[in-house]
Amino acid sequence: MNVIAAVDRNWGIGKNGRLLVAIPEDQRLFRQETLGKTVIMGRKTLESLPGGKPLYGRNTIVLSRNPEYGIRGACCVSSVSEALAAVKGCKAEDVFVAGGEEIYRAFLPYCRTAHVTYIDYAYEADAYFPDLDRDQEWVLDVETEEATYFDICYSFRRYVRRSAGLRL
Ligand SMILES: NC(=O)c1ccc[n+]([C@@H]2O[C@H](COP(=O)([O-])OP(=O)(O)OC[C@H]3O[C@@H](n4cnc5c(N)ncnc54)[C@H](OP(=O)(O)O)[C@@H]3O)[C@@H](O)[C@H]2O)c1
Repeated sequence: MNVIAAVDRNWGIGKNGRLLVAIPEDQRLFRQETLGKTVIMGRKTLESLPGGKPLYGRNTIVLSRNPEYGIRGACCVSSVSEALAAVKGCKAEDVFVAGGEEIYRAFLPYCRTAHVTYIDYAYEADAYFPDLDRDQEWVLDVETEEATYFDICYSFRRYVRRSAGLRL
């Protein structure tokens, strides 16, 4: 299973229920990586999407502890184990954990690859991704050269779980 996130220098991912910044190339990469695949997200992240609707062209699994919660076009589950059961038939490489903080923390132990857009700026944030640079389980495998969007510098990183071995 993969995890995909855009983080800032402090591994911040959001503020007031929104992303910290929108970088078109990051959005393009997210779309390219996840199109035709399965994404797992929390109810709050789903509701932050345009129109509060699931993303087009992706099989979406949404977690809510409210068993009554339902949203057209998504499979709603009320626990991590139900979400894992829902993706059992999928190839692990075709499943992407897409946030937010609560969902990243819950599913990171099940992920082997992390696609991280690293934004070299410290925003004010209230939601965070676990700092993989301080986690012995994870190693930075590949990083692109730094790119810029106006005055924002960013790069795309791939981390892999050590216990899965480095695979290129
Ligand atoms: N930078 C990025 O790449 C990125 C990506 C995605 C999101 N974000 C940001 O992350 C922030 C949102 O993160 P968040 O942690 O507040 O919310 P979240 O993870 O998107 O959703 C949290 C909700 O998911 C449900 N949930 C969580 N754990 C569950 C479990 N074990 N079983 C069943 N349901 C569970 C609960 O819904 P109920 O309350 O309905 O029970 C909970 O309130 C926003 O700022 C968003 O923009 C950033």
